[in-house]
Amino acid sequence: KKPQIFITRKLPEHILEPFRDKFEIKMWESEDKPVPNNILHNEVEKADGLLCLISERIDRALIDRATNLKIIANMAVGYDNIDVNYATEKGIIVTNTPDVLSETTADLTFSLLMATARRIIEASDYLRENKWENWSPYALAGTDIFGKTIGIVGMGRIGEAVARRAKGFGMKITYHNRNRKPEAEKSLGALYREFDELLTEADYVVSLVPLTGATKYLFDKNVFEKMKSSAIFINVSRGQVVDETALVNALQENQIKAAGLDVFEKEPIQNDHPLLNFDNVVCLPHIGSASVETRTRMLELCMENLDGFFNGSGPVTPIS
Ligand code: GLV
Ligand code: GLV
Repeated sequence: KKPQIFITRKLPEHILEPFRDKFEIKMWESEDKPVPNNILHNEVEKADGLLCLISERIDRALIDRATNLKIIANMAVGYDNIDVNYATEKGIIVTNTPDVLSETTADLTFSLLMATARRIIEASDYLRENKWENWSPYALAGTDIFGKTIGIVGMGRIGEAVARRAKGFGMKITYHNRNRKPEAEKSLGALYREFDELLTEADYVVSLVPLTGATKYLFDKNVFEKMKSSAIFINVSRGQVVDETALVNALQENQIKAAGLDVFEKEPIQNDHPLLNFDNVVCLPHIGSASVETRTRMLELCMENLDGFFNGSGPVTPIS
């Protein structure tokens, strides 16, 4: 009997086609709306494998329903949406999609850094609002990038890809990570800093840490107070590593200069979100890995993980 796979979003046929003869595939009907929780709970009861997105919360209650489930393939590098400890306890393998999205996410991180520093969105809106009447010395003047210090918090694969870009831009590179990265220190001249040192020195503080018990609300009131008043804060990891109330206060009090955010404490946000009220904050709807090439590669990797598991060769990228 073919393994039954449940996929929590409607995927294009070209992703599924190579696997049609190996799996019994069932899929939620919508491309852009998440599967309702009660339907997900019913479907996992029958599934041997699950392909899910970060919009799904794979918690104890769901895992308890999933008595046949052997593998969860998450379409993301982060897996804070899954109770991994409980899944592991139940003998369920969890896989993610590392590496394939690192360069794309680093591109977005740098886009957001540059858009925030050079006020790109504000400048574009200025034209749409018909405000361009003169050329003035300091009109829409932003902040330089070259010659400045970037402080990368979380020097994983994405962090290193950001550091390579920063090197090309002539920035001084500092980083903080649980472990030192001798390779990156050598090849990129990245300088290790204690967290507090990085905060007081960096012109750009860039969060790329995964969300864990240890990083939840890592960026709190104290942290924003330690940053330079000229610092720009960029977050492309998870919203919950930031205390958003503290960030709003820091911006209101001019404790930091600006922020660029791809992620939020509770997603999706609505247009009444307080962070959308600042001209000096650029907000994006969690699009770090969103290139057509990379999203395709992530989906393929999810399918390859399921296939590897069920054909006995082993999942390609199990989380360690
Ligand atoms: C998306 O946020 C991911 O973790 O890949
Ligand atoms: C993601 O792949 C990371 O390790 O930063």
